[in-house]
Parts: sequence; structure tokens; C-alpha cells
Amino acid sequence: MGEDSFIAWKDIYSVGIAQIDEQHQELINLTQRLHQACLGGTEAGRFYFKKAMHDLVNYVTFHFSAEEKLMEKIGFPGLPEHKREHENFVKKVLMDVKNFESGKAIVPNTFVRYLRQWILTHIAQTDQQYGIYVTQSLYKQGSDEPLI
Ligand SMILES: [Fe+2]
Repeated sequence: MGEDSFIAWKDIYSVGIAQIDEQHQELINLTQRLHQACLGGTEAGRFYFKKAMHDLVNYVTFHFSAEEKLMEKIGFPGLPEHKREHENFVKKVLMDVKNFESGKAIVPNTFVRYLRQWILTHIAQTDQQYGIYVTQSLYKQGSDEPLI
């Protein structure tokens, strides 16, 4: 990614679980793409933005579900609160998508900035909590069963 990236992965975001880090990188890529989509103000740009929004929503749904399954599997005590954060985010994003599609004023740039802020804060803070739980061996993995 170039210097002009709107949003980019940094190693400090790692939660210490390779598959989750890959999913977070994909989430960041999709947000970057969404930002690029808002740069065009034409009808085609609007169509592209709508598609990028849907791609992001689909991926977020897949990723949150994977994370929640992982937290459940390791018996992470912060799961209910973490789940609530996910749900509130999805609710807000779906509301914005609905408003955008029904022609109501949502400013693509504001939407994408909100995404960047939420995703980076969530990855850098909230997701670290289950990462620490796993890596500090608070969860002892029995057998060689994969984590996710
Ligand atoms: Fe999360």
C-alpha cells in the first residue's frame, strides 16, 4: 500500500492469531476500497460505492461470526460485551446502508471515516483482549485442534 493509504495495516494490530490477522487485513483492504469508491461523484461512482458497501457488510458478518465462535471456543469471559460491540456496529452500518440506498443524505466520506475509526479502535483495543487471553495461555489449547 502506498503512502497515500486512507487506512493501512500495522504490525501492532496483530492479535497473535494468524487467521484473525488475515481477516483484519481484508477488512482494512475493503475499507480502503470503499474510500476509493467515494472519490468519484458520478452515477457510476455511486454504484461502485454501493457495491463496496455490500462487500464490506458481508465480510464484517463473516468475520464477526468467526471471532465470536473463537471466543466461545476458548471460553473468553468478555464475549457478551464484545458481541454487543459487534452488534451495535452492524446496526449502525446497516442503517447507513439503508439510508444511502433510499436516497437519504449520508455522506460517503463521513461514513468511511466512521468505519476507519471504529475498525482501527476495535482491532487495536477490543480484539487485543481475546488475543492476550490466548497468547498468555489463559486458555490452554488441548490437543492439536486448530483455534479457528
Ligand atoms: Fe471483534
